[in-house]
Amino acid sequence: MLKISKLATAVALVLAGTAALAGEVEVLHYWTSGGEAKSVAELKKIMQAKGHTWKDFAVAGGGGDNAATVLKSRVVSGNPPAAAQIKGPAIQEWASEGVLANLDATAKAEKWDSLLPEVVANVMKYKGNYVAAPVNVHRVNWMWANAAVLKKAGVTSTPKTWDEFFAAAEKVKKAGLIPVAHGGQNWQDFTTFESVVLGVGGAKFYSDALVKLDQKALTSPTMQKSLETFRKVKSYTDPASPGRDWNLATAMVIQEKAAFQFMGDWAKGEFTAAGKVPGKDYVCAPAPGTDKAYTFNIDSFAMFKLKDPGAQKAQADLAASIMGTEFQEVFNLNKGSIPVRLNMDMSKFDDCAKTSAKDFVSTAKTGGLVPSVAHGMAIAPAAEGAIKDAVSQFWNDDKITVAAGMANIAKAAATK
Ligand code: GAL
Repeated sequence: MLKISKLATAVALVLAGTAALAGEVEVLHYWTSGGEAKSVAELKKIMQAKGHTWKDFAVAGGGGDNAATVLKSRVVSGNPPAAAQIKGPAIQEWASEGVLANLDATAKAEKWDSLLPEVVANVMKYKGNYVAAPVNVHRVNWMWANAAVLKKAGVTSTPKTWDEFFAAAEKVKKAGLIPVAHGGQNWQDFTTFESVVLGVGGAKFYSDALVKLDQKALTSPTMQKSLETFRKVKSYTDPASPGRDWNLATAMVIQEKAAFQFMGDWAKGEFTAAGKVPGKDYVCAPAPGTDKAYTFNIDSFAMFKLKDPGAQKAQADLAASIMGTEFQEVFNLNKGSIPVRLNMDMSKFDDCAKTSAKDFVSTAKTGGLVPSVAHGMAIAPAAEGAIKDAVSQFWNDDKITVAAGMANIAKAAATK
């Protein structure tokens, strides 16, 4: 009898110990569209299976501007969430405030340094320590097209150059359909703008003008041509686009109301959630002129310093889960992105994802891999906000000449 009671006591202690280390993890994110919500639900499932309580802190608003505002107010009031969707240079800014938890113990135990491309690992570290866990790799320079709309309009091949694109857009317009589905929000305007700059000027020009913010590049004939092209794209959008959410623009393409959308591959998450098949219902293609380039956007979660041991354990489990193979597969299948973890089995992923994975590696070797400015991967948030506003003013006001627009953008880029 004694033996059994000892065993029972030992089991009880282990369970109690494990239970005591379970904690609540409040996660601030902005994934509220159909595809996004399905994706983040997978992370919630994995954390609940580990015995933790998931407190979902979703802040609507694509691109994350609203979420960033709410996060600042929570941290300033001394009540940060356990984790928040923070990425790119903003990770460095938050880390310099001394509020982010050090994730090195988890990163070491899980061997992150051997599982991440160096360019990614460096973005997740502050002064050599991991302070964020990377979730995925989104490609931003995509053009989505509805196959049936192209057929109806007599567009027989996917445009590869901007001249071919405008010829196709003209045919779609003549067929009485909307050539370009767009949501008039500054991060969406800039998502289109950066693909135009990449397509017109190439990766080196993109880096000089939009990443290095070089004044000569920003006021060059290539930038002039980019702005002329950008304005011509605007002429093929519909009057109801101002303020439209990105996923509602994607829905216009899904529902055969519009032909094209320039958007990152989180848009593919919407096609997937709608049961659409790439190569049959829709086409994923590099934005015109960008097939040798790749604008990357890496989502990541930073953890805030918390005192409670249970919360700290939950944070460590969250970080480990995010980089785990199970989450990396199921999340990215739903989200439209590709795994950030190297050597993942891609057999369940569709051809768009396989193309993205191949191009991510090849463009890293050729210099065609560039950070997305529109999605917070390239420059300090203040300068990013200023040039986004200048670009949106140009997009929204046809009375602003190309010369004036170019001068405004160059001036905004000088914002410190
Ligand atoms: C991006 C984010 C993506 C997607 C998109 C639309 O900034 O990295 O994951 O959410 O915004 O909201």
